Amino acid sequence: MGVIKEIEQFHAEMTEWRRDIHRHPELKYEENRTSDLVAEKLHEFGIEIHRGLAKTGVVGTIRNGDGPSIGLRADLDALPLEEKNTFKHASSNPGKMHACGHDGHTAMLLGAAKYLASSKNFKGTVNFIFQPAEEGGGGGELMIKEGLFEKFPVDSVYGLHNWPGMPAGTFGVGAGPIMAAADLFDLTINGRGGHAALPDQCIDPIVIAAQVVSTLQTITSRNTHPVDSVVISVTQIHAGDAYNVIPDSVRMHGTVRTFLPETRDKIPSSMLRVAEGVCAAYGATCELNYKTGYPATINAVPESEISAKAVVDLLGEDKIIRNPTPSMGAEDFSYMLQARPGCYVWLGIGPGKGEFGCMLHSSHYDFNDDVLPTGASYWATLVKNELPA
Ligand code: NI
Repeated sequence: MGVIKEIEQFHAEMTEWRRDIHRHPELKYEENRTSDLVAEKLHEFGIEIHRGLAKTGVVGTIRNGDGPSIGLRADLDALPLEEKNTFKHASSNPGKMHACGHDGHTAMLLGAAKYLASSKNFKGTVNFIFQPAEEGGGGGELMIKEGLFEKFPVDSVYGLHNWPGMPAGTFGVGAGPIMAAADLFDLTINGRGGHAALPDQCIDPIVIAAQVVSTLQTITSRNTHPVDSVVISVTQIHAGDAYNVIPDSVRMHGTVRTFLPETRDKIPSSMLRVAEGVCAAYGATCELNYKTGYPATINAVPESEISAKAVVDLLGEDKIIRNPTPSMGAEDFSYMLQARPGCYVWLGIGPGKGEFGCMLHSSHYDFNDDVLPTGASYWATLVKNELPA
């Protein structure tokens, strides 16, 4: 039991790919070099390549006789962040950084592709999906809109994300919601401005905004089932530009996170009810602009069991964390899970391997190369189990 021996043998090569990608981070829909590198490697392994879905997306396909078809997905893009690490493979592109470990995801899926192309120990079709623009660009959604699953039909689709803080080489696997839906809102409160010394002649939108911010929290604490989870965060408040003037209006912006679609659907009307009610009490009005983002990432029950079995077959019962606490972060693999049944798992990388050991999206983050063979072996085991030879 443990990682697949043949994969372990090219650990050094996978580390090289990973560090090369880390050194050359590219932002959403500009992953040209990374996409070239992936295509070049897949070609080298003798895998059929399709390019151009969602601009920089790459799909590699191995057909090995009749059998089920599976999709395995990795993401290619980096973040607009200045890297503060000083090691040799630190970013050479100013203001861009692989701070979410997508370099590691790409290297692990390439590792699995290399192994499966030579072992061919399965019967059916494996599609290796390398998607652009996971970080706020909806690259996964765009690939689907451009016909991903018509061009590459799959019975099920699987994703993986590294997770700092979970012991290195362990997997978090659970059915149901694992990552949240992420929506945005703009809320404008319209009062009546005037002299700050004459508040009785004004409708002060700042006092009203303060009430609205705290009252919005009752949606999460009083209108939502206590076991369900909602986050409403007002993250920006803009108003006024003088010491002695009450402004006409206040603009607020923020984000809403939910897991259950039915809960998500109710939030805009709840927010409007609260904001309008508070405004009415003071004679003000408001406007809400609610923008839906990535949906929740929801794992199907059978495919979650399939993922769990692959982990246990590969590494044993003590390397799996079943039903980990979901994250309120978001992920655009959610669109693939809306289109096809599947499962998205977390792979622990231990205390982050950056210079300070830290979480995703930190300027000190680095992927932990020790787990590269573990991730690639997980993919290969999933294929072996689901597409039996
Ligand atoms: Ni990520």
